[in-house]
Amino acid sequence: MNKITIAIDGFSSTGKSTVAKQLAKHLGYVYVDTGAMYRSVAYYAMQNGLITKEAFNVEALVGQLSKINITFKFNEALGFAEVYLNDVNIEKDIRTLEVSKFVSTVASVSAVRKKLVEQQQKMGANKGVVMDGRDIGTVVFPDAELKLFMVASAETRAKRRYQELTEKGDKVTYEAVLKNVEERDFLDTTRADSPLVKAEDAIEFDNSILTKEEQFQKLLALVETKL
Ligand code: DC
Repeated sequence: MNKITIAIDGFSSTGKSTVAKQLAKHLGYVYVDTGAMYRSVAYYAMQNGLITKEAFNVEALVGQLSKINITFKFNEALGFAEVYLNDVNIEKDIRTLEVSKFVSTVASVSAVRKKLVEQQQKMGANKGVVMDGRDIGTVVFPDAELKLFMVASAETRAKRRYQELTEKGDKVTYEAVLKNVEERDFLDTTRADSPLVKAEDAIEFDNSILTKEEQFQKLLALVETKL
């Protein structure tokens, strides 16, 4: 069957990765979580003291980009690929509120974006890929056969993220999560390089009131029109 590229963009915690994983599994496609790649660079910067609440040493990070090797390895038990930084599994380490606080700043650096976009384009070069992020339909794969743009209110998204974090045992407050969601919305949509914006030919999809299964069925029907 004809393999296509599916680009899923949207604000944080709009359920992009949930539906991207479902679609990739159903279609036998590769799923690429590009947010995990930006989170990995932010995590590297934090671990190496290049970004703190007080300062961000952009030059040092850019100088060390060649030392940052991000890979994905499929975990059979989990059913999706986990992210590795220089061969160390950091899947859990990058999903914290701490990393979320720094990631949008790191993702605004053009040299970081250039490196990751090149890698993403290689990963999707043979189609048969579902990629989620902020600039997939606009920059990474502007010719993708299907582009989705996911939206939901900031409160709905913060509630989802709060639930995810507290279920994992992270000690966070709803207010801190909502503040982070709103701050990242602002930084992601206003940065100079590849801001989060809906591609002209993207289909906007609001999942605020849909169950995961309803969302999957609706999006699968859309995918099937493109195969
Ligand atoms: O999808 P996520 O919330 O894990 O992404 C984390 C951050 O990474 C997000 O706030 C903005 C940035 N990002 C980006 O700039 N471009 C992408 N393609 C994916 C994520």
